[in-house]
Amino acid sequence: MKDRTAAIVLAAGKGSRMKSRVHKQYLLLEGKPILYYSLKAFEDSFVDEIVLVAGKDEAAYCREEIVEKYGFKKVSRIAEGGRERYHSVFCGLQALRDCEYVFIHDGARPFLTKEILDRAYAAVRRTPACVVGMPVKDTIRIADENAYAAETPRRDLVWIMQTPQVFSFDLVKRAYCAFLEQEEETLAKGIKITDDAMVVELFSDTGIRLVEGSYDNIKITTPEDLLIAQALAKGRKAE
Ligand code: CTP
Ligand code: MG
Repeated sequence: MKDRTAAIVLAAGKGSRMKSRVHKQYLLLEGKPILYYSLKAFEDSFVDEIVLVAGKDEAAYCREEIVEKYGFKKVSRIAEGGRERYHSVFCGLQALRDCEYVFIHDGARPFLTKEILDRAYAAVRRTPACVVGMPVKDTIRIADENAYAAETPRRDLVWIMQTPQVFSFDLVKRAYCAFLEQEEETLAKGIKITDDAMVVELFSDTGIRLVEGSYDNIKITTPEDLLIAQALAKGRKAE
């Protein structure tokens, strides 16, 4: 079907930096699991289908306590993730067929909005690889191995990367297949793959277009992010 659009929502991480007993994507924010919020944003959007990627043994919890409980109709599959984020993304890509565009999103980013989704969708129809991000607010300095400042990039050209990262499905699938065929060689070069844009940059000829996200679109990574998320969630409720 032409222009069919899918989302892959990633929830197979272990949240080691959060140091909580429950994996961070299932911690409660205003009474609902963090993962609920990004699924809700996709459920209410133009996206046709959602593949949720969860950890081994977490599928039943996700199905009963999130997908069924909140009535998410667009979740077509709960796939099992892998060791690294990129393995989980690949599991999600393998669960999809016949789609034109795919939105890849961290389930640990609960503040995804309609505005961000609309901007990213408009952008990917012009350029097949788009990443949501924001210009940094602080000065960034690149350090050398001895923690001496080595370089200061121009602040107006430095962006932090967020998700969704949005691609033509065929392009991102091809890039991921090429990367995973050469996974060992790539890692041996000291390259760390931390997002999808890196895979497309390294394993295709397509440039990555940066699209404005929002400063609220934070990833819950460490305990202080939860405090910020609670404040942001309260602010939204009051709107
Ligand atoms: N993720 C995933 N599969 C993995 C690793 C990460 O699906 N093997 C997901 C996480 O659940 C999260 C998103 O990718 O929604 C971003 O990853 P990150 O913030 O690094 O989460 P974790 O890997 O869970 O946390 P940490 O790195 O602190 O262990
Ligand atoms: Mg991680």
